[in-house]
Amino acid sequence: MFVGAVGVQVDREQRRELGAFYTPPDIARRLLERTLGPILDSCRCGDELRNKRFLDPACGDGAFLRLADEMVRERLGCRHETVFGFDIDPVATRACGGLSVAQRDFLAEEKGGYDAIFGNPPFLSAIRAGGLERAHLGEGLIGSADLAYSFLAKALTLVKPASEGGRVGFVLPRAFLGARAAAAIRSRMPNGFRLESVEVLERPDHFDGAQVYVCLCVFSDSPTTQLLDEQGQVLATLKLESANWWGELFGDKLVPDSGLLVGEIFEVCQSMTVGEAYAVGPFIEDRMVPDARLLISGRIRNASCEWGEKPSRYLGTTYQHPTLATGAATVIPKRIALARRPKVVVAGLSKNLRAFFDPAGQYIGAVSTFTITHPRDDLDELQRLEEFLNTPLATSAFIRECGSSALGGGSITVRKDFLRKLVIPSNNT
Ligand SMILES: C[S@@+](CC[C@H](N)C(=O)[O-])C[C@H]1O[C@@H](n2cnc3c(N)ncnc32)[C@H](O)[C@@H]1O
Repeated sequence: MFVGAVGVQVDREQRRELGAFYTPPDIARRLLERTLGPILDSCRCGDELRNKRFLDPACGDGAFLRLADEMVRERLGCRHETVFGFDIDPVATRACGGLSVAQRDFLAEEKGGYDAIFGNPPFLSAIRAGGLERAHLGEGLIGSADLAYSFLAKALTLVKPASEGGRVGFVLPRAFLGARAAAAIRSRMPNGFRLESVEVLERPDHFDGAQVYVCLCVFSDSPTTQLLDEQGQVLATLKLESANWWGELFGDKLVPDSGLLVGEIFEVCQSMTVGEAYAVGPFIEDRMVPDARLLISGRIRNASCEWGEKPSRYLGTTYQHPTLATGAATVIPKRIALARRPKVVVAGLSKNLRAFFDPAGQYIGAVSTFTITHPRDDLDELQRLEEFLNTPLATSAFIRECGSSALGGGSITVRKDFLRKLVIPSNNT
């Protein structure tokens, strides 16, 4: 049994069937502020706000509803029935006591006219969902579309048209931005809607019990799209021109490039070959010393490393503090000399691009990592490189260029030529 934020008990299998993975409050708040905020700000008096109708069509245990209700109450100074919720699951609707919630199948709804529709619709591939939901797929959706896309298609028709101020804010699978199954809806959104903003969450583990990459999308009549990071900073504002939103959002035009490639400024090399990894095996000791710390790919985090904090497994043995003894210099002298210099070590097998700056040359990258040095050992340049490599932008380029090599578990193999050809953004030079 899973217990939701307010104590709803939902059986694990039932959760899978209903796509019921509830939304953490900070994510719900960010999406709601972007969706409802402009409407609340535009209301000149309480009466205008009292006439609005907002809907969460798959309200679950009411994470969005409660917050939306609170936002309206703060403006009006008292509660008013403005925010409504539907859910097909009676257990979920019962959990939303005190809120205006009905047990309804949103995809079968016909009544519209909402000022805003928001929430986290169920994610479920149409193939898994089977016949019933397939029948509800919706205009512009084909084949392997996700049920979440059908919710979006329906919401875009039941909300007021974009020209009348209608707004939709949904948590959607990240795949929505590029999936062929939703290409038609992206290129011809109903009722004049366009993508106003999108925040692509980097990690897939925000939803307890489900590993899924999501994005927070707001739709309105905005002619341009803002790409936001998780702090709400605008990374880029652009006009989407094709159905390949993913490519356009993370494509080359995103960052004014410096015209320089990583490989033109820095020296990039594999930290160790497989042969060298075996050759140094007898020289590995479990010792806490300040240099020649052996850093494996899995211990590199974004801008930090977990050497010594978590065990490292190397050639079948587990070490808490894997360190190369001085004798290793007899087998890999050049690698050790390079490792003593200031450098950035990049994880070679990872879901995101991850880089760690080692200014004092205390670590030596193991096999499956890359070592990047600067010809003049310029610490500022290396620090900026580390910052850039850990951005979502660099990770998007990584997924675009190397993503097809994803192994079981989603880890992608970094290629040296990918790192060398990465374009440095202009503020990184
Ligand atoms: C991902 S949960 C989201 C819950 C809620 N929005 C939140 O973030 O806490 C999706 C919800 O959609 C509901 N659901 C599934 N199919 C539905 C349908 N056809 N109509 C309405 N609700 C549905 C599920 O019962 C589940 O509670």
